[in-house]
Amino acid sequence: KEENRGQWGSRSGFILAAIGSAIGLGNIWRFPYVAASNGGGAFLIPYLVALFTAGIPLLILEFAMGHKIRSSAPGVFAKLNKKYEAIGWFQTLIAFFITTYYVVIIAWSFSYLFFAFTGAWGTDPKAFLFGDYLKLGDAPSTLGNLGASLGGLNLKVAVPLLLVWGINYGVLRMGVKNGLEKANKIFMPLLIIALLVIVVRGVTLPGAMAGLDYFFTPDFSKLTDPKVWLAAYGQIFFSLSICFAIMYAYASYLPKKSDIVNNAFMTGLGNCSFSLISGIGVFSILGFMAHTQGVSVAEVSTAGVGLAFIVFPEAINQLPGMNGLIGGVFFITLIFAGLSSSMSIMEAVVAAISDKFKLTRVQALNRFALTSGILSLLVATNGGLYVLDIVDYATNQYGIVIAGILELVILGWFFNLESVRTYVNELSDFRVGKWWIWAIKGTSVLLVVILALKIKGEIAAPYEGYSWTALGVYGLGSMIIITVGSFIMAKKKGSQEFEDKIYT
Ligand code: PHE
Repeated sequence: KEENRGQWGSRSGFILAAIGSAIGLGNIWRFPYVAASNGGGAFLIPYLVALFTAGIPLLILEFAMGHKIRSSAPGVFAKLNKKYEAIGWFQTLIAFFITTYYVVIIAWSFSYLFFAFTGAWGTDPKAFLFGDYLKLGDAPSTLGNLGASLGGLNLKVAVPLLLVWGINYGVLRMGVKNGLEKANKIFMPLLIIALLVIVVRGVTLPGAMAGLDYFFTPDFSKLTDPKVWLAAYGQIFFSLSICFAIMYAYASYLPKKSDIVNNAFMTGLGNCSFSLISGIGVFSILGFMAHTQGVSVAEVSTAGVGLAFIVFPEAINQLPGMNGLIGGVFFITLIFAGLSSSMSIMEAVVAAISDKFKLTRVQALNRFALTSGILSLLVATNGGLYVLDIVDYATNQYGIVIAGILELVILGWFFNLESVRTYVNELSDFRVGKWWIWAIKGTSVLLVVILALKIKGEIAAPYEGYSWTALGVYGLGSMIIITVGSFIMAKKKGSQEFEDKIYT
């Protein structure tokens, strides 16, 4: 029976896959910016505190529960109490929604890999991105606009999107050991090499040192600002892929004898090292940009889509040589980092469906790929970016925090964590002390504070100035669909095997 669910073939296979999930677009386009704008070098203090008080303890928790119960998120929560199964589905559905646009961004990266060589973005990468490539209309201040902009399918995005789906589908279909493990064993080393090429090119460019100064110069006065601490915890949660149902699924494929604590430390530290190195690459190139434009580093530093698809193309244009090659390597970095994360989000959903309904991997995968694939094509329509942006914001900024609160309150306060600690310590060389339980409880409280502050900030200034209607329909709407969907999925009758697992 266990073999049907698949198993990692080696310890390094699991760790690489877990690190592969953790290392994603966020390490490259989010971490450097968050660090630089929250105290630079001094940000490392809250960041490392967040890693050790929340990141690694939660990885230990999720690895332990997935391993112990040998199930994806819905089964883990159902095993605690049938009433809690919906929480597992809530996390799974967030992963489902995130898939629909995460794959689209990887698709853009494929297009840009190609553009890096053809120089298609020309001298004005911003106009190119929004005009020629994404074909966006005016910003949707009203719903009417937004509906109108959901026009025809944008083939420039849809074609690479099919490629991204094809790769993910192929890997997931081959299973845990032959698919996910093999893919990560190929992607991760290539990713590291690609990143090192970017870093070496970056630090040898004129202006790089000013960029690194900006990135690293510690502003210790920032440490008294609670926002900086919240940013650090937020970054750790997103970056380690925790509270997304992912790590439960991945850990459920671990062999019986697996050192949980060691695996959690390796994953946490591996991910953070990658973030630091990519910060060095990104900021040396931003320093170079600032240098060529004669502006300050602060003026060119940004995160997200703007960094990857506007500022970097601009920087690539200015390179003294090998523009196409270096540009290509940069987008390859995004592609590898993105693919190894997208596989993990998809696996969380596929594992949940097949665990509950006792479908084969391929049956579950086909169902998932069909629904999520169609939704992601909608994101690739002209103007779909606005929907993407809002759904992304709602699921990422609110969904994960809510999922985290539900998970930690249940596990931390209504469940005997001491039994998990004993379980973990029997398996691990390095034992976790009682501090671990307090780390989990403390993090639950912190997340409630984070949520309250977010809501307060939202009311004061709605996200990106979108209308409340647009935010309501796409943002709140996606959250309502996720919540209702969680209850529906939890109510559905599971396979005999699923019920047996819960009640024995
Ligand atoms: N951890 C990934 C990153 O830092 C993000 C991610 C999100 C991974 C969703 C999987 C699922 O980019």
